[in-house]
Amino acid sequence: MEKKENFVGFNKDEYVPILRDESISFLYEIIKKNQPKKGLEIGTYIGYSASIFLSTSQNASLETVEINEENAKLARENLKEFGDRVTVFCKDAKDFIEERLEEKEKYDFIFLDGPKGQYIRYLPILKQLLSVEGILVADNVYFHGMVKMEGKIPHKHRSIVNNLRKFISEIQSDPDFETQIYDIGDGISVSKKLA
Ligand SMILES: C[S@@+](CC[C@H](N)C(=O)[O-])C[C@H]1O[C@@H](n2cnc3c(N)ncnc32)[C@H](O)[C@@H]1O
Repeated sequence: MEKKENFVGFNKDEYVPILRDESISFLYEIIKKNQPKKGLEIGTYIGYSASIFLSTSQNASLETVEINEENAKLARENLKEFGDRVTVFCKDAKDFIEERLEEKEKYDFIFLDGPKGQYIRYLPILKQLLSVEGILVADNVYFHGMVKMEGKIPHKHRSIVNNLRKFISEIQSDPDFETQIYDIGDGISVSKKLA
């Protein structure tokens, strides 16, 4: 696995929102085990997790969507070695997944790592985009531990935390998904679509 520090743009932001090291190893194991063929990623940043996907499932293609133009540009640069196996779209994820739904597109692996407060809104669409037996992985579902915390959540995080709680509850109670949540990194959910 290439070191994330070697990626162009790694030092550009004060806070680097790339997967934590333990989450990278975990994601690598899931991809290695499942060997998906067609992936979708929400939230590219500079392309690190996309590179894990593409180098671990070597015959797979990936569509990854990022709202920020500078990030998308850097990701294209960082992912050049994967050629036409990867396409970086610079768009709002909601618009992108709605378009893909209209086009009746299907993916066997979806990595959800975009705006945390939107996971619950994306879920019904992502469910339809996922093929049966496909895997949906979502990062940061515990949001700095606040999702599991009892008591008052600071006002500025309240809506994200409530939305993540709804996301967890919805995906865990959906009989079409088999879901496990792992206390790794910032909390990762892994859901297999059963039907
Ligand atoms: C946690 S970072 C992604 C990190 C990346 N998956 C990795 O581990 O290498 C989340 C990214 O989602 C992007 N993002 C935020 N809102 C978005 C939206 N509405 N649509 C698409 N991307 C969005 C952010 O600009 C940011 O680059």
